[in-house]
This record gives sequence, structure tokens and C-alpha cells, in this order.
Amino acid sequence: MNNRLSRARSFRRVDDYEAVKELAIRAGLDVVDKSVEDIVAAFGYYIGESLMATAALEREDGQLFLEWVAVDSSIRMRGVGASLVAMVEDEARTHGMKELWAKARIPEFYRRIGFRILEKDEIGPKTLEGCVDCPEFGTSCNPAIVVRDLGDDIPVPSAYSSAPRIIQVEKSGAKSGPNRI
Ligand SMILES: CC(C)(COP(=O)(O)OP(=O)(O)OC[C@H]1O[C@@H](n2cnc3c(N)ncnc32)[C@H](O)[C@@H]1OP(=O)(O)O)[C@@H](O)C(=O)NCCC(=O)NCCS
Repeated sequence: MNNRLSRARSFRRVDDYEAVKELAIRAGLDVVDKSVEDIVAAFGYYIGESLMATAALEREDGQLFLEWVAVDSSIRMRGVGASLVAMVEDEARTHGMKELWAKARIPEFYRRIGFRILEKDEIGPKTLEGCVDCPEFGTSCNPAIVVRDLGDDIPVPSAYSSAPRIIQVEKSGAKSGPNRI
């Protein structure tokens, strides 16, 4: 196959949830208590056929949450994570969801893409239960619960409007579309 085409970059829906898990582990997520069978929809960023980044909507106790957000360390800070979360937001809207909740290992990432970080005394459908016994808790990991309002009447901050963010498949190394990668 033409080498340039084999390295084509694209955002698309992921069918192979085991690949999502492998990437999550590679990116340092704790997946011990998680099952890919709970994934309702997953989106990925591919270089060629390699899954390089992902984000998913997961069912937990009958509710849907943002989970499995992982970007390969070689392509971070280029807008890929933000774009994939936006794809999950759109998917959540198709499920009639008005808010998207997540447990965040890196709350600042979510704050920057339009989520609100819950105060410690606020209660939501997602909690930090399961984190408090982790040796990383409060040391190398300072998680928080975050929520994104999916209502149409809420202005979307900066470049993180979800609609036009899907990147065209690149046929060369050049960047394309409105995104940063
Ligand atoms: C967190 C993670 C998903 C971010 O992905 P990414 O593609 O690098 O993020 P983006 O480039 O889309 O960044 C979006 C915004 O978040 C900010 N951001 C990204 N990573 C950040 C970090 N570690 N700390 C603070 N802000 C961060 C970016 O600066 C950008 O803000 P800006 O546009 O105002 O500059 C990625 O670093 C990762 O996979 N980490 C390991 C796995 C993990 O912890 N996942 C769960 C995240 S809670």
C-alpha cells in the first residue's frame, strides 16, 4: 500500500473495544475494575490503522458517563483529546442527555474544554468512591468529578465547539481542517 495513505490520520468511531483498553493501559489509566462490555460508544483517532487516542461513553448503574479518555503520549497537547470528548458529547446528545459527567484524573484538562469541576461538598451521579483507597490518591493523582452542560443554549467556550471539529482524513503529512493536529 502507498506509504502516505497507510499513515492517513482520521477520527472515527471505534468498534474494537479491546484496542481501547490496550490504549488506556498504555496511557496510564487504571482499568482494573473496568470492563469494555460497558462501553456504549467509543471514538478514536487513528494514524493508519493504529488507535492513538480514544474517548467513550460508558454505561454504569444504568447511567451513561464519559470514560476511557486516553491519548498516546506521542501526540498529546494537540487538541486530540478535546476533539474526542466533543464527539462523545455529540453522542451523549443523541441519547437525550443534558449533562455529561466524568471522574477526572486531570481536572484541568476538562475545565479547559468547558467542563465544570464540582466543589468537594457537591453531590452528583458520579463520585470519587474507589479513588480514596488508591495509593496515588492525593499524591500523584488529584481527581475530581466534572460535568459538562450539553444544553444548546449554553455558549461553548473557545475552539471546543463540537460540531465542526471532526478532522478530515489526511492524505499527506500536512494538517487539515480546523483542528490542531
Ligand atoms: C489528559 C489527556 C487525555 C489530554 O489529551 P490531549 O490530547 O493532550 O489534550 P488536548 O491537547 O486536547 O488539550 C485540551 C486542553 O487541555 C489542556 N490540557 C491537556 N492536558 C493537560 C494536562 N495534563 N494538564 C493541564 N491541562 C491540560 C490543554 O492545554 C488544552 O487547553 P488549551 O487549549 O486551553 O491550551 C492526555 O494527556 C492523556 O491521555 N493523559 C493520560 C491518560 C489520562 O489521565 N486520562 C484521563 C484524563 S482525566
